[in-house]
Amino acid sequence: MSKQTVLITGASSGMGAAIAKVFAVRGFDLLLVARDAQKLHTVKKSLSRWANIQVLICDLTQLNTAQRLFSTLQKKHRQVDILINNAAVGTYGHFVKTNIQRIEAEIATNIRALTELTHLFAAQMQKQKSGKILNVASVAALQAGAQMAVYYASKAYVLHFTEALAEELKNENVQVSVVLPGPLKTDFNTKAGVPSKRGVLARLLRPMSAEKIAQLTVDKFLQGKTMIIPGFINRCLFFAYRFLPRSLPRKMVKRLNAHPIE
Ligand SMILES: NC(=O)c1ccc[n+]([C@@H]2O[C@H](COP(=O)([O-])OP(=O)(O)OC[C@H]3O[C@@H](n4cnc5c(N)ncnc54)[C@H](OP(=O)(O)O)[C@@H]3O)[C@@H](O)[C@H]2O)c1
Repeated sequence: MSKQTVLITGASSGMGAAIAKVFAVRGFDLLLVARDAQKLHTVKKSLSRWANIQVLICDLTQLNTAQRLFSTLQKKHRQVDILINNAAVGTYGHFVKTNIQRIEAEIATNIRALTELTHLFAAQMQKQKSGKILNVASVAALQAGAQMAVYYASKAYVLHFTEALAEELKNENVQVSVVLPGPLKTDFNTKAGVPSKRGVLARLLRPMSAEKIAQLTVDKFLQGKTMIIPGFINRCLFFAYRFLPRSLPRKMVKRLNAHPIE
């Protein structure tokens, strides 16, 4: 039997690179997507003892990138058995004061590209009657997030979109899953401009290692789970939110994300 191929967006760092390693070690071939060629090649080099790896340099903010990526793979007769939509960016700060180009890039990466890639690959998987898709959301999807309004809303989109699609494709032998990690030890917050010095609440939340979360996520995903919430505290939060008034988590996150000088 030929090896299965996993396409991972945002594989040049953090959670994407960690997910790539878990699949590589388990004997899957990899297609790694991101903008930073150098970082992608470093990831490729570190994993090539386990897997056949191809890097695809793509900027997911550009229109038609998903279609171009899909067509390139079609021409090469490269079948994708598993799609991992992991790439995302965040932007910290008051929404009104945030540069609109940055907001557009965030929506394009976190929502548009993820939706287009899912549309293209899910159709192919439906035709083949096999395939799996994992979309990376966040616990941010569970409530509104002042100071990162677009990011939190984009992750709520990913969560609801994925759950709906999982139901639509349930009887087609196409698995669609979503993972909601809590804070991770990656460079995500630095890139998003989140201040390193924040309030007491933020300091109480211990980020988990991307490697540990990637391992847990891939295990549950390959077991066929639709909704994956790694970490006991995150699962408790998810459960508690059902009983809390919506305003409470919203206000807590506003405090959590508050700028130190406010
Ligand atoms: N960090 C956290 O606390 C946390 C918590 C919950 C969920 N998550 C989610 O976990 C996922 C991975 O985040 P991370 O923490 O690992 O952050 P990260 O290290 O910043 O990784 C983000 C990845 O997305 C890629 N990317 C960003 N913009 C792109 C674009 N326009 N085109 C192609 N690729 C792009 C980046 O690669 P290039 O820059 O090379 O393009 C990078 O590989 C995201 O979906 C994030 O929302 C993170």
